[in-house]
Amino acid sequence: MINLHVVITGGTGFVGRTLARKLAAAGHRVTVLSRRAGGGAPAPAGAEVAQWNPARPSPALFAGKDAVVNLVGESIAIGRWTEARKQRILDSRVVPTRSLVSALAAAGGERPRVLVSASAVGYYGPRGDEDLDEDSPAGSDFLARVCVAWETEAWAAEPLGVRVTLARLGMVLGRDGGLLGRMLPVFRLGLGGPLGNGRQWLSWVHMDDVVSAIVLALENETVRGPLNITSPHPVRNRDFARILGRLLNRPAFIPVPSLALRLGLGEMADLLLTGQRALPRRLEGLGFKHRFPTLEAALSEVLGRNSAP
Ligand SMILES: NC(=O)c1ccc[n+]([C@@H]2O[C@H](COP(=O)([O-])OP(=O)(O)OC[C@H]3O[C@@H](n4cnc5c(N)ncnc54)[C@H](OP(=O)(O)O)[C@@H]3O)[C@@H](O)[C@H]2O)c1
Repeated sequence: MINLHVVITGGTGFVGRTLARKLAAAGHRVTVLSRRAGGGAPAPAGAEVAQWNPARPSPALFAGKDAVVNLVGESIAIGRWTEARKQRILDSRVVPTRSLVSALAAAGGERPRVLVSASAVGYYGPRGDEDLDEDSPAGSDFLARVCVAWETEAWAAEPLGVRVTLARLGMVLGRDGGLLGRMLPVFRLGLGGPLGNGRQWLSWVHMDDVVSAIVLALENETVRGPLNITSPHPVRNRDFARILGRLLNRPAFIPVPSLALRLGLGEMADLLLTGQRALPRRLEGLGFKHRFPTLEAALSEVLGRNSAP
């Protein structure tokens, strides 16, 4: 293994904390960039934290480093999607990514060789039962437009000689965070259930597989362009609810009506009521072996039952 110095923007978040810890444990040097001043952001074990201004990052933060993983972005799952909030969801990804690429340009010959920039399977938009791989076209709803704009900014680093991977993440399942962390209290009360008709697909992925796929993208010089980081077995929403309920020994069969979700969440309800069946074709083509290919194994591990291989 080559030891890298990796900079992680947004590395204080759900995915970044685990990625930073695991990269550091594997012997890499890790610098997490956070907006929070004076050590306000706790450093993931083994990593150092540096403050940055995502609108005008100093090129010195990147010069002399080997790789950047870009995980910035205001959460899409908190609060109603007002027009102002939608603008913040977009700007918090597009502006820091554009500024990051400008800083890479200014770093000259000292710039990192590789950028892995987060995106999401929301790139494909709501697509019913269609199988989607990296060659499938983008959708046209709000989240798809965010992903397209965000990926376009990251891809602008390619002409600088930086190898760019666009990491289209599915819903990440891990301990202490993410959408699952917000769903668990409801399911533990026995109040969870399918959303709407429950037929919509959910492309999920275990955190350990996210970390391994990002490491692959950092290390393998042939990985360039879009990369679906999802499990090979997406599930319908109703099956997700059923399996989670069973593992928690709680009933989870009372559907949450679409109308109630729309009234409660506004346009954000579409995120839960529609979905896509994204498949990790490129990862599989690269010989990637998922540690948690099935939802049962992934959820069991996250819930602490350790039934995974
Ligand atoms: N988790 C998932 O299931 C999932 C699925 C698909 C895609 N993704 C994408 O993957 C990325 C990482 O996800 P995550 O779950 O780890 O997110 P997260 O926990 O919300 O962390 C994102 C980090 O971005 C930084 N950030 C927030 N708003 C920002 C802004 N306006 N400008 C600059 N930085 C900002 C924050 O760091 P500081 O406050 O320390 O600066 C925060 O710790 C996100 O872009 C997300 O959209 C995640």
